Amino acid sequence: MRKLEVSLPEQSYSILIGSGLLAKLPNLLEMQGVQKQDRLFLITDDQVAIHYLEPVRRSLSESGFSIDFAIVPHGEQSKCVATYESLIGKLIEAGCNRKSVILALGGGVIGDLAGFVAATYMRGIRFFQLPTTLLAHDSSVGGKVAINHILGKNIMGAFYQPKGVIYDVDTLQTLSTRELQSGFAEVIKHGLIWDHSFVDWLFQNKEELLSRNSLYLTEAIERACAVKVAVVSQDETEQGIRAILNYGHTIGHAIEGTTSYSAYTHGEAISIGMVGSAWMSEKIHSSSQGLTKMTEELLTHFGLPVKLRTPLSEDKLMDYLRRDKKHTSTGFIFILSPIYGQVRINEHVPEGLIRQALHRIGAC
Ligand SMILES: NC(=O)c1ccc[n+]([C@@H]2O[C@H](COP(=O)([O-])OP(=O)(O)OC[C@H]3O[C@@H](n4cnc5c(N)ncnc54)[C@H](O)[C@@H]3O)[C@@H](O)[C@H]2O)c1
Ligand SMILES: [Zn+2]
Repeated sequence: MRKLEVSLPEQSYSILIGSGLLAKLPNLLEMQGVQKQDRLFLITDDQVAIHYLEPVRRSLSESGFSIDFAIVPHGEQSKCVATYESLIGKLIEAGCNRKSVILALGGGVIGDLAGFVAATYMRGIRFFQLPTTLLAHDSSVGGKVAINHILGKNIMGAFYQPKGVIYDVDTLQTLSTRELQSGFAEVIKHGLIWDHSFVDWLFQNKEELLSRNSLYLTEAIERACAVKVAVVSQDETEQGIRAILNYGHTIGHAIEGTTSYSAYTHGEAISIGMVGSAWMSEKIHSSSQGLTKMTEELLTHFGLPVKLRTPLSEDKLMDYLRRDKKHTSTGFIFILSPIYGQVRINEHVPEGLIRQALHRIGAC
């Protein structure tokens, strides 16, 4: 088992990563301050429940914990006010109080939703992230929790840190290939923004990673989480450097938004976004020559798209970028890479260059 510490001004917590951790959950929770008399409330989705709910529920109750649970439909649509309100009702009915603990068992959707429930129920109760997707190495760390409004993604949210992250990599064995590949987009992002030796390692070990070798997955998750921890520890509430985690996301969000979150997974959209960002980086910084080609090669190895599957309108994507939180009165802000393995916040990126980048990734 690998362990990372997240040290923040108000609190610290551990990220445990390894094989067989769900079976050890009762012990791991106790080691992190949860007591048998603290009521547990597990939130998961219907797909994850098929594989993991019963073993987790049984081992916790057999160890003397009292546990209730709720299953929500899988998918982004569960990050909504109606599901949130219904979960709050279930917590009340289960008699949860300020000492109760929420367990978020699932991918980023469950982590964001259950985390937001935890952040707001009785002004905040403890919660643990139990990630079951590769992408959730990103979403389970850092304390951003949220639900969506019909007019915008993650509009109702909070910075609310979990009490711990317990990441059983064995759960990745049941993940679909598409979701696994999607998760690699964020893994690759963490390398590209911070640690070029990690990118080299991903290149070298792609076969083991794609064949879901637990040891390699553990290492990839640990190294990617370490980048996220390093960034978040410096800037918990995104006043500055945390914005670099959005590398590839400005264009990625525009792709997701323009296609109503239906054609591309989040990882696929940011994969294409990272190609656009690499291309702009090369145009602005002569020191990053070759970055686009290298990025495309790496993403392709991991089965990720580097171009739009069907062209989207450049004007529609630009409209979306204009509405983006990262568009200020002084221009477009992009995270770009002046050199392989590092990124910087670039303000005032010219619209003409963005349009060329959109063209490069297949917009028309
Ligand atoms: N809070 C953050 O910092 C942050 C960062 C990145 C993404 N996110 C959010 O994360 C969400 C996306 O997360 P995701 O990609 O994990 O999606 P997800 O939670 O929807 O999971 C993807 C699919 O895989 C299924 N699944 C999950 N684990 C499984 C397993 N072990 N075996 C079989 N099936 C499994 C789920 O039921 C779902 O259908 C988005 O809502 C995004 O906004 C948040
Ligand atoms: Zn992301």
